[in-house]
Amino acid sequence: MKQIVAITIMLLINIRIMVASVVDYQIIPLPKNVELQNGSPFILDNSVAILYEGSDKLMKRNLMFLQQYIFDIAGIQVDTLTKKANDRPCIQLIIDAKIQAYEGYRIVVSEKEITIAGATPGGVFYGIQTLRKSLPLKRTTIEMPAVIINDVPRFAYRGMMLDCARHFFPLKFVKQYIEMMALHNMNFFHWHLTDDQGWRIEIKKYPRLTEFGSKRTGTVIGNNSDVDDEMPYGGFYTQEEIREIVEYARERYITVIPEIDMPGHMLAALACLPELGCTGGPYQVGHKWGVYNDVLCVGNQKTFEFVKNVLNEVITLFPSEYIHIGGDETPTLRWEHCPKCKALNVGSIQGYFTHQIEQYLAEKGRRVIGWDEMLEKGVQPTTTIMSWRGTAPGFKAAELGHDVVISPLTHCYFDYYQTKDTRYEPSVTGMWPIDVEKVYNLDPIPDSLSVTAKQHIIGVQANLWTEHVPTFRVAEYQLLPRMSALAEVQWTDQKRKNFNSFKQRITRFTAIYDHYGWQYALHLWPERMVKDRWKQ
Ligand code: ACM
Ligand code: ZN
Repeated sequence: MKQIVAITIMLLINIRIMVASVVDYQIIPLPKNVELQNGSPFILDNSVAILYEGSDKLMKRNLMFLQQYIFDIAGIQVDTLTKKANDRPCIQLIIDAKIQAYEGYRIVVSEKEITIAGATPGGVFYGIQTLRKSLPLKRTTIEMPAVIINDVPRFAYRGMMLDCARHFFPLKFVKQYIEMMALHNMNFFHWHLTDDQGWRIEIKKYPRLTEFGSKRTGTVIGNNSDVDDEMPYGGFYTQEEIREIVEYARERYITVIPEIDMPGHMLAALACLPELGCTGGPYQVGHKWGVYNDVLCVGNQKTFEFVKNVLNEVITLFPSEYIHIGGDETPTLRWEHCPKCKALNVGSIQGYFTHQIEQYLAEKGRRVIGWDEMLEKGVQPTTTIMSWRGTAPGFKAAELGHDVVISPLTHCYFDYYQTKDTRYEPSVTGMWPIDVEKVYNLDPIPDSLSVTAKQHIIGVQANLWTEHVPTFRVAEYQLLPRMSALAEVQWTDQKRKNFNSFKQRITRFTAIYDHYGWQYALHLWPERMVKDRWKQ
């Protein structure tokens, strides 16, 4: 008899787990306002339909995303409808012009219906993400308490950079990276496509750039040791593949900003076109990391012809208003000894170069974004500055009236190691550890900034440089869960941020990483660690 009672109790408990998996909307990034209501909950099971009544293509795509996410995460298959059926509980997507913020959304959950409304399809997409992230994994029935969620991002620019020059990542991983960004409500994918160690974007006018410039004959082992692995390495994206990525990102409300780094970090191009360097070469696609003295010869008109021809193709591939032209780490040594560069007789050779490119892109309706060195070398006030050498250059730029993306190596370099105890880290690079809490505590707008400068801080970005990130598995490990902390810096109001609350939420959120099979660092959960967990 006792056994029967025990079995019955266990069965009841199991049934309760199956029936009443209750959602609490405590997700990442934390929404602006979550107000639980008194009414009965919405029950999500396979009797539910999802609905969009209009004809907007992106909204129809949103509906497909919602269907896919509910199936992916919860394992529940819901039907899609184009007209409301009165008797069916439904999740409805709506465009609502009354919602003021461009990317804002409102979710209302009641007994018979969930509505996800936004002023734009992008806003609705973020509402869908919130619903997706609220769901528990693999249930037949989910209880969704009545709630009203009003949400809007703190920053308009929420970026992630991927360096595909130092190591090449196949299209499949670039898409996964975009998926990871979408899950974290991010909207600008900065794609670092060219550098000393490889040229990765097909340019039809200069086929040598990819035939030759995308390959190196070896790579230094470790951090600029004296040993070269002598293994050929290469890869590039065709224009067709680039279009595929731009479209893939667009569907997820992510703008792809290409970076063609100039006038420094150009060794791979110089190896193909040595006449564009001050010494005339010969040059070799870089094997080592760091900064090379060989840069574009600015005193040579052919350099401008080349850069403009490259940019012509870049702007046909990328609809982004912003085009990133690098501008970082450009030594002046070669210019100082080059008759053509000296004959320019200008104060700042890099400033002279940048002005011409800014003007050229402006004529094409595009805006320049570049690394913070550009500020010292001379830039137009319309150029957006990406502050990487700490936050100070960005704050200075904002005071001068530039728009600024905060992306400091103190908090946002995700190639840096993430713990003082580096024994089990796949990659130990960087000047200091950047752990999840460090990322989380970045405040991109200190009180000390003037009111107008504050308005010029348009967002925050983290960067994955890949000198020491040879595989997608290591990339995942470097990205997660730091991306979650970044997402909250980018999206959630400073006064609502709280690391303890974040830690509780990320502890559950990793179930989604597990579900997609993404590898993440475990420093927040030593109890989950097993030695050598990371995969190559
Ligand atoms: C940079 O890290 N050189 C932007
Ligand atoms: Zn020169």
